[in-house]
Amino acid sequence: MSNGKTILGLVGSPNKDGLTNHLVDAALKGAREAGVKVELVQMSDYVVDACLDCTAPTCSKDLKCSYNDENMEYLGERILNCSGFVLGTPVYWGDTSGMVKYFITKMYRIYAASGPFEGLPSLGIAIAGGSGNGLLTGLLPIYHLFRIMKMRALDPLPVTRFNLNQTIDIATESGRLIVQMAEDRHPFKRREESLLLYDRLPFLGKNLGDERRLLTAIISAAIPEERRHEIIGDLEKADSLARSGKIVESLAEINKVYDSCMRILA
Ligand SMILES: Cc1cc2nc3c(=O)[nH]c(=O)nc-3n(C[C@H](O)[C@H](O)[C@H](O)COP(=O)(O)O)c2cc1C
Repeated sequence: MSNGKTILGLVGSPNKDGLTNHLVDAALKGAREAGVKVELVQMSDYVVDACLDCTAPTCSKDLKCSYNDENMEYLGERILNCSGFVLGTPVYWGDTSGMVKYFITKMYRIYAASGPFEGLPSLGIAIAGGSGNGLLTGLLPIYHLFRIMKMRALDPLPVTRFNLNQTIDIATESGRLIVQMAEDRHPFKRREESLLLYDRLPFLGKNLGDERRLLTAIISAAIPEERRHEIIGDLEKADSLARSGKIVESLAEINKVYDSCMRILA
């Protein structure tokens, strides 16, 4: 199918050939294979200015930034015209990149009241390409945007440099799924439906201990077979400690595994 549909991917990294680009591109590859047009936009070519607060606000009535931000107009227009949306960010200090944050802030201000993106199938990708910390917290601003905009979110994709290859394949699969969802766009009939969808998405409701547990599992899976005996600590023991309410001991066990894996991979 093509049906004039376009899946849009925004790369929220200053590195045009970096990991964020590879992941967004992988999602668009899946969409292209499913028969639609795709468009990849480097946000670094269209860096949005900081919101200066047009107090009234006038931007939500005019549907454009009151301080004449051509880059925001361009990006807004691209999203208004797409049938499926992929937003990828590098993780910077457990958050999105600054250019993604500025863009998200203006998206709310300009479009939240009129709701032109209701039901838009949307995928968020965050790549924590350094230590891997922030792989979940980096997704939160993106999925908050999707929820406020009443977009129909796909499962978020947290990525680190330790599980990049596996997640590239998942991104491609998600790209195919976006095309299926775009065939028949379903705005939410009631607010409760949206709340339930977002509550049920994996990864988003986790605390910092959960994030460390997930990251440690990812890193330990990346240790080569011949060096696995060097791993100190045991994630199953950590889980058993957590089940019996020994949360601090459980986290200490997770950190033992994490520290030894980081030493092996250093
Ligand atoms: C300012 C800054 C902060 C960063 N903070 C984190 C971080 O919290 N966790 C992490 O794993 N990597 C962090 N990184 C590393 C980036 O996530 C990594 O370089 C990523 O691959 C960038 O994506 P790109 O290749 O698309 O540019 C940081 C990088 C920069 C420049």
